[in-house]
Amino acid sequence: MFRCLLCLMFIGRITTEGSARFTQQPGDQVVVAGQRAILSCSLYNYSGIVQWTKDGLALGMGSGLPAWPRYRIVGDVEKGVYDLEIQEAELSDDAVYECQATEVALRSDRAALTVLVPPDEPVIEGGPDLLLQAETPYNLTCRVQGAKPAAGIEWYSAGVRQQGASSTHGLMDDGKREYTVSVLPFSPSEMDIGGS
Ligand SMILES: *[C@@H]1O[C@H](CO)[C@@H](O)[C@H](O)[C@H]1NC(C)=O
Ligand SMILES: *[C@@H]1O[C@H](CO)[C@@H](O)[C@H](O)[C@H]1NC(C)=O
Repeated sequence: MFRCLLCLMFIGRITTEGSARFTQQPGDQVVVAGQRAILSCSLYNYSGIVQWTKDGLALGMGSGLPAWPRYRIVGDVEKGVYDLEIQEAELSDDAVYECQATEVALRSDRAALTVLVPPDEPVIEGGPDLLLQAETPYNLTCRVQGAKPAAGIEWYSAGVRQQGASSTHGLMDDGKREYTVSVLPFSPSEMDIGGS
């Protein structure tokens, strides 16, 4: 009886050690546009096809991924390393990735790659030269586009931070980047001539 139990435990152990499994899985990552990202995927005891998916779409097979010139599989395939390298990250790389060992129907954790995008230059409406009437209230409006996440806007006059602005932001047409609009109420006086 005792011998039999031992032998069952032994068989159980062999079975788990022998079957293919992930030893490294991709995790969520944040990368600034233009930088390189590497998503990890290592498998133990698996020699079949490994493929990555991006938002559920298969990226292809082999180490070079022809349809994705900035993507390739890096690492030592002999050792079961199938990391996905993304060069010069762009907004279009902002997605959920998964590594799959197709022949044993194994899927890794889903990893979200977040690509941060710096904003375009801020623009003051009506600028650069504004013609205003003294003592007549005016709303200065500044717009910034193309940032992910949304940019914050601060106002300065002669190097001094201005208070009292209100800002709003929202998604641009691509559904990923955001615009920000900030409005600063302003009552111009003679002191402001030539100011910036
Ligand atoms: C790999 O898995 C197979 C079963 O799929 C098994 O027969 C073999 O012993 C395993 N090899 C190792 C090194 O664990
Ligand atoms: C400035 O904006 C505020 C808030 O939108 C508005 O209530 C106010 O009338 C505006 N002032 C001028 C001078 O346009």
